[in-house]
Amino acid sequence: MYDNPRLVIDSSNPPEPGSIVWRSPSNIAIIKYWGKYGLQLPRNPSLSLTLASSFTDTSLEYAINDNPSGSGIDLEFYFHQEENEAFKAKIQAFLETLAPVFPFLKQLKLVIRTGNSFPHSAGIASSASAMSALALCLCSLEDMLFGTLQEPDVFDRKASWVARLGSGSACRSVFPHAAVWGETQHVKEASNEYAVPVGDLIHDTFKDFHDDILIVSSDEKSVSSRAGHALMDGNPFAETRYAQARQRLPVLLDAMRTGDLDTFGKIAEDEALTLHALMMCSNPSYLLMQPGSVAIIEKVRAYRQATGRPLYFTLDAGPNVHLLYPGEIIHEVRAFIEEELKKYCENGRYQEDWVGEGPEEM
Ligand code: PMV
Repeated sequence: MYDNPRLVIDSSNPPEPGSIVWRSPSNIAIIKYWGKYGLQLPRNPSLSLTLASSFTDTSLEYAINDNPSGSGIDLEFYFHQEENEAFKAKIQAFLETLAPVFPFLKQLKLVIRTGNSFPHSAGIASSASAMSALALCLCSLEDMLFGTLQEPDVFDRKASWVARLGSGSACRSVFPHAAVWGETQHVKEASNEYAVPVGDLIHDTFKDFHDDILIVSSDEKSVSSRAGHALMDGNPFAETRYAQARQRLPVLLDAMRTGDLDTFGKIAEDEALTLHALMMCSNPSYLLMQPGSVAIIEKVRAYRQATGRPLYFTLDAGPNVHLLYPGEIIHEVRAFIEEELKKYCENGRYQEDWVGEGPEEM
């Protein structure tokens, strides 16, 4: 879609060395993407809230390479100031797949320095923030060299498309407040290729909205998301699940437009439990919740029953519980976490997060 052989640096007029820095947040899916085909294309549309305090900072330094090796990309890579061979290999392979999109990358020496606002071992997925930050840096570099992405919408769409190739869910991190990724007739220009912003379609309640991430376990994931998506191909409930997501997207959008927290919360919780149920009945089966996750879910439901307060949960493909609630009940919820939920968290840890304004160029 974005292959462009014209994006080549004129060697008689090379750019001065420079650097580009982006901060990009993670996102939390309310309707989940689980199941894909082709090149990271989703089986169903998903909707996420863009977060704020869980982010990745990435700087991309570039200089013309006087001795390009021909095939490869010349890359130095640092994660939290240290060389990291495993991450470097992944990023290098990713950049090489992007050669037809950004042919100029092979003409440069690149140094990438990246780091997260949360500890790598926190069990918080970092691929969405990391891949969106990198995609934004690459699009800024293209624009700096060729002036081809001057229109903000054109820039964002390409960044979302590139981020998707790095990690599907990353394509939704490019936009403020909320984004939809995947074909649906209910959102203008929605596509499987990139996400589109839906922040303008939602009630202010969801712009002053919180997602406190209760770290039940910081262990490495027992199943990678690549393997998890692949398991959907043999799952007997797969088609029913994709249809369910397609049908509930307009229901969720309507609830988010009107500020209907009750409907929002029902869908959010059902989506989380459906994702986990699908993993439980995959072959092989995975049980990704831990006793602490279940205890927290039961406490949240009991709290809602007792107080009537709009406190809901969602889960990623792991044991940590995300608490979703509007800003107006923050004091009550934080007291509830401290008194009743923190004891289920590893070392009492949780990450306070909230709906944010999207990525920032630094
Ligand atoms: O982007 P991936 O391939 O890591 O998949 C993410 C899948 C979930 O986080 C479980 C759901 C989602 O839509 O973000």
